[in-house]
Parts: sequence; structure tokens; C-alpha cells
Amino acid sequence: MEKTTVLEFLQKNNGDVDQAIIASEVPREPFSLYEPVVHVLSSRGKRLRPQLVLCAASIFNGDREAALQVALAMEVFHIFTLVHDDIMDEAGSRRGHTTIHVKWDEPTAILSGDYLLGKASELLLSLPDANLRAGLARFSQTVRELCEGQIRDMEFESRQDVSLDEYLSMIDQKTSALLKTSLVLGGLTGSVTAEEVEKLDLIGYHLGRAFQIQDDLLDLTAESHDWGKPVGGDFLAGKKAFLLLEAIRVEHIEGGSFFQTIAAKSDVTAAQIPEIRKRLNQLGVLESAQKTVRFHSQAAATLTQDLKQSLGKQGLLALIEKMSVRTH
Ligand code: IPE
Ligand code: IPE
Ligand code: MG
Ligand code: MG
Ligand code: MG
Repeated sequence: MEKTTVLEFLQKNNGDVDQAIIASEVPREPFSLYEPVVHVLSSRGKRLRPQLVLCAASIFNGDREAALQVALAMEVFHIFTLVHDDIMDEAGSRRGHTTIHVKWDEPTAILSGDYLLGKASELLLSLPDANLRAGLARFSQTVRELCEGQIRDMEFESRQDVSLDEYLSMIDQKTSALLKTSLVLGGLTGSVTAEEVEKLDLIGYHLGRAFQIQDDLLDLTAESHDWGKPVGGDFLAGKKAFLLLEAIRVEHIEGGSFFQTIAAKSDVTAAQIPEIRKRLNQLGVLESAQKTVRFHSQAAATLTQDLKQSLGKQGLLALIEKMSVRTH
């Protein structure tokens, strides 16, 4: 038989996750709850979290069926966080579709999100008995961490003195926590030592930083047809994301105050976005964001090199590379 290539491995993972979503039958009634659940489950994202589960499962010899259920759990949980995040961020579109709280209403979005959270916990019951307790404990801890990250992200909107360090520790909670846990739960579908869990955590940490800073960068620089949401959305919403905080830091050294004023007023309009982009470029902020993304992707890749030779390891390396050069 021909050897499976890394690309085929990743494609098969995506196909299997799609199938698992279709197979996870959503009840029909009450229709007002399940119609939006089906709507959001049928929108397709990058599937990063399930891929991380399946790569780690392959490295640590996890059972493929169990790993698929865990991969689905991580995607369903991720979608839950997006549904609630879009309420908090007052976002109108996600993955190119209208968000639930806009297409229906807020109570519907809260409840369909809660349904997905419940569904994710249930799917985790497919972890092997020996690792079930550890896996569920880890998952609960991640839910708490995400809540902390999300509330800090919100609080930052009305603060003018947010430092880059505070921002970085916030993204460790709102974004990296779930990437770390996806890798660890993938490992727990097989056999993984405490030391190996620590390594997976560190890979997830670096990948999370690279991923979220790239997300912040793309929020301003992506092509609108790729992005699936308004370009410049973070500035329009008064978000204290990487670009704004780094710009404040750099212009402070150079004696400017344009971005400090933006942070203080939070009244950016779409017409100002091209000017903001030009200034960020001049200050070297776009380049510094790219450099930071590269630094963390390389750190994640170096750590991954030490893992057992397998399709999962090759897959993980390919994902790290792909996520740092992605355009959406
Ligand atoms: C969006 O995650 C939320 C962030 C942590 C930036 P993704 O960019 O992975 O979203 P999808 O799954 O591709 O839609
Ligand atoms: C989302 O962060 C993180 C979670 C959903 C937990 P953002 O608010 O930056 O994500 P986008 O930009 O809406 O995708
Ligand atoms: Mg948010
Ligand atoms: Mg958001
Ligand atoms: Mg964002």
C-alpha cells in the first residue's frame, strides 16, 4: 500500500471531522433551539483544534475512534465560545454567515451556545477510562480559564493603560488554553506521560500566541472576502489588541500620541482604517507583529521536532507552518 502523506493525513482528519459533525444528530424539537445549532454547526472554520487533537492522538497512539469524538468535542466547544464571543463583541458575521444573536436573538444564541457546551462535555466521555478523570478535569479548568480571558479582554476595552504584557497573558487564557488542551486531550486518547503533557502544553502555548497575534494582524490586513468579518473590526470595536498596544508602546518612545488618543476615545470609524494601517506600517508595528508570530511558530516547531516520528508529528509541523502564514 502507498504510504499516507502528511497532506492526505490532514485532509482525512478534516473529512472525518465533517462526517462526525453530520453524524452527531441534532434533535429537531424545540426547533427554535436546534435550528440555530444546525446553522452554526454547518459553517466551516479552519478546524485547527480538532486537527491538534488528531495529531497528538497519532503521536501518542490514541484510539482513532475515541480521538475523533474528542476532536469533535473540541470543535463543538470552540463553536460554543464563538457564539458567545460574538454576543459579547456585538459581531454580525462569523465564518461568512450572520451570527445567531443577529439572525435570531440573544437568548437563542446564549441557549444554543449552552447546548453546544453540554454536547462537548458529553463527547469527552469517549476518552479511555484510565484518562477520563484527568481529561474532564483538564476540560473544566480550560472552561474557567477561557472565561477569565474573555472577561479581561472585555475589561481592557474601557481601560486606557493596558500593557502589552497584560494583553499577552490575556490571550494565553482566551486562545492558547484551548489549543493546549486540544493537544493534551489528544494525547490522553493514547498513553502520555506527565512530562509529555508538559511539552504539549508548551507547544500549545507558543502556537496560541502565534495564532492570536496573527489573528489580530489579519483583523486589519486581511482581504475582506477571505476574512468573513469586517476588516479593521478590532479598531472599530475599541479592542486593545496587539497592533494598538504595540503602536502605543512604539510611538511613546518616539514622542507621538495618535494611537494613545485612539485608545482613549474608542470612536474609530471605517473611514479611518486606511490611515491607521498606513501609520502602523510606518511605525514598524505590522512588521513587529509578523516577527512575533514567527518567533512563537518557530518555538512551537522546535519543540515538536522532539516528539515521536509519526504522521501526527508531521501534521503538527505542517499546521504550525500553515497557521503562521494563513490569510484568514
Ligand atoms: C477564532 O478562532 C477565535 C480566535 C481564537 C481567534 P479561529 O480563527 O480558529 O476560527 P475558525 O474555527 O477558523 O472559524
Ligand atoms: C475570541 O477572541 C476568543 C474566543 C472565542 C474565546 P476574538 O474575539 O479576538 O475572536 P474573533 O476575532 O471574534 O474571531
Ligand atoms: Mg472577543
Ligand atoms: Mg470576537
Ligand atoms: Mg480577533
